[in-house]
Amino acid sequence: MAIKKILVTGANGQLGWELSQLAATYPAFEFIFLDRTGMNLSQPASFETIITQLSPDIIINTAAYTAVDKAETEKELAHTINALAVGALAGIAKQKGIRFITYSTDYVFSGVSSTPFLPDTPLEPINSYGSSKAEGEKLALAENEASIIIRTSWVFSSHGNNFVKTMIRLMKERAQLKIVADQQGRPTYARDLAMATIKIIEALNAGKKIQGVYHYSNSGATTWYQFAAKIKALAGLSCELIAITTAEFPTPAARPGYSVLDTHKIENELSIAIPHWETSLEQCIQKLS
Ligand SMILES: NC(=O)c1ccc[n+]([C@@H]2O[C@H](COP(=O)([O-])OP(=O)(O)OC[C@H]3O[C@@H](n4cnc5c(N)ncnc54)[C@H](OP(=O)(O)O)[C@@H]3O)[C@@H](O)[C@H]2O)c1
Repeated sequence: MAIKKILVTGANGQLGWELSQLAATYPAFEFIFLDRTGMNLSQPASFETIITQLSPDIIINTAAYTAVDKAETEKELAHTINALAVGALAGIAKQKGIRFITYSTDYVFSGVSSTPFLPDTPLEPINSYGSSKAEGEKLALAENEASIIIRTSWVFSSHGNNFVKTMIRLMKERAQLKIVADQQGRPTYARDLAMATIKIIEALNAGKKIQGVYHYSNSGATTWYQFAAKIKALAGLSCELIAITTAEFPTPAARPGYSVLDTHKIENELSIAIPHWETSLEQCIQKLS
């Protein structure tokens, strides 16, 4: 059965909002966007009634507990939203013949590697947020083997809270900014991830078998310092950037030194070319100005 009706959770998040911006360009699909008042992920017992009423063909779960440092002290809430709720959604989807897409993170890995992490690299979460997302992945697949899990990293958008917007604000306020230069990863423009998600639905409708774990982030690895330097150049700002080490910037949750995701699987299965992060960053900053 072709997918027509798409239910998106987390409507006000970066990814949920980018999907809502794309919706008008895909008139063949009927989108339903729910924010936390429409579906609260901390209340899994409410899901069945909501999903039965809306009767979607696919659920795209972009909602998540994403406060990485706070998750160290709010472990239970993070676990409910990122693990139990994801398992519950996957289970209801299976029972009703609905497809299910959810998202995970580079923080499910150890952060220690010299080569990109593959979708089947063993999980070794680096912090509580990563543990909650890893648990969510396991529950989603245990409840529903057809679940689609897309791990991503360093997400930015013209909407919501993210590194790009924080950097632009701080660079306008301050003469100097210290940025961590010894953590490597791949930035991801939420708009590109939203488009890849639609491509997955189109591929499912074309009869392709897509299930399990995928990685999606923009191409080209970088450091937070280099990312900030590019933001500064594209936004035409003059703040002095000072490279520092992770040890000089302690945070409640540990951060990975290396969290580059290998994206070949999704590129090959969807026949897509993933844009370079600098190209996508330029588009995002143009939108912001
Ligand atoms: N942001 C990143 O750098 C990053 C990196 C790796 C993976 N990811 C994953 O990618 C996916 C999309 O992330 P994003 O960047 O779009 O996240 P985001 O901008 O932080 O948005 C998360 C959304 O989840 C909603 N939410 C939080 N608690 C909720 C609850 N109890 N019930 C319902 N909604 C709730 C938030 O609602 P409110 O707006 O009401 O707060 C927010 O709209 C998530 O699975 C995330 O874990 C993100």
